[in-house]
Amino acid sequence: MLCEPDHGRQDATAYRCVAGRRYGWKERGVAARILVADDNPAMCEAITRFVEAEGHTVLVARNGREALTLAMRDLPDLVLLDVTMPDFDGFEVCRRLKADERTALIPVTMLTILDDAEHRRRGIEAGADDFLTKPFEERLLRARIQTQLRTKRLTDQLERTESIIFALALAVEAKDLYTEGHLWRLARYGEQLAIAAGFPPEDTRAVWRGGLLHDIGKIGVADNILRKPAPLTPEEYAQVKEHPERGARIIAPMRFAREVAPIVLGHHEHWDGSGYPYGLRGDAIPIGARIIAIVDAYDAMTTNRPYRGALTRERALQRLRARSGIQWDPELVAIFISLVEQKRLAEPTEADMVRCVGMASQSRMA
Ligand SMILES: [Fe+2]
Repeated sequence: MLCEPDHGRQDATAYRCVAGRRYGWKERGVAARILVADDNPAMCEAITRFVEAEGHTVLVARNGREALTLAMRDLPDLVLLDVTMPDFDGFEVCRRLKADERTALIPVTMLTILDDAEHRRRGIEAGADDFLTKPFEERLLRARIQTQLRTKRLTDQLERTESIIFALALAVEAKDLYTEGHLWRLARYGEQLAIAAGFPPEDTRAVWRGGLLHDIGKIGVADNILRKPAPLTPEEYAQVKEHPERGARIIAPMRFAREVAPIVLGHHEHWDGSGYPYGLRGDAIPIGARIIAIVDAYDAMTTNRPYRGALTRERALQRLRARSGIQWDPELVAIFISLVEQKRLAEPTEADMVRCVGMASQSRMA
């Protein structure tokens, strides 16, 4: 059966009943929220009827702008997006959805009239996840919707795991009474240093995440060691030194582990090779880890610690300069110092916390 505009059909309710019995959501347990964006009212109605009969909730947009507004506001589980629409075509809507962290993981299926290679190429460039040619065969439309929703559910599960890991990182910070707010500052400072060093947005985001997660491996370090107001014994120090590797193992299941794990693993390496866990030297240390090492040290110096009070900003910069090229990457230290001296280093805001919490907010499907 084709799913296409049926101007003669008057008994949509009857249609829904029959289809609902055959493919009802209660039997499959996968009710989802699907955004249908098509400027053709008849086609829109036909798709809506079909999708509702499948047991899903439908949001309808008649142009690109409306599609963007609804997608941002309601975070659907799937977007069925017509290519040709007024007020932003489908490609532009798709591009904007994929560029926004809140909507980037929502699957987008582009609806084309012909199996047009040029449309597919542009769709792929815009980040589309799938293509369907109108008019649809119901069986095919059902199968493609189910596939995309299955992918979305797996993504959501992963997202929940990730938000748990971020929560764990914050819980670890809470173990150490002397470092309140340290993770937020590190993420924010690290991000600013990455931008000043010319990092592209994706790598800058990895540094931000690395700032929040760098010490997550301390979950395995005893509280009395973390809070000890005196120098550590060699055995205690050996325990602390395990935290980069343990941290990298904890975040291994995360989707961005490939970019963030090297930062977690390398944030205690030193430019001259005297750091841990591997004694890496110079450029062999991942650049994101070199950034976190600098901002970690600066933040530690400018906050109160169990064994000393906070240093002034000037004194902290002096120490950074003194060990630049020994402990830290000299080029990055120079950039960081100019950020601080020009008073361009901003403190974290509530928006940073919302960004972290927001990572879990896309998990809408039950
Ligand atoms: Fe650390």
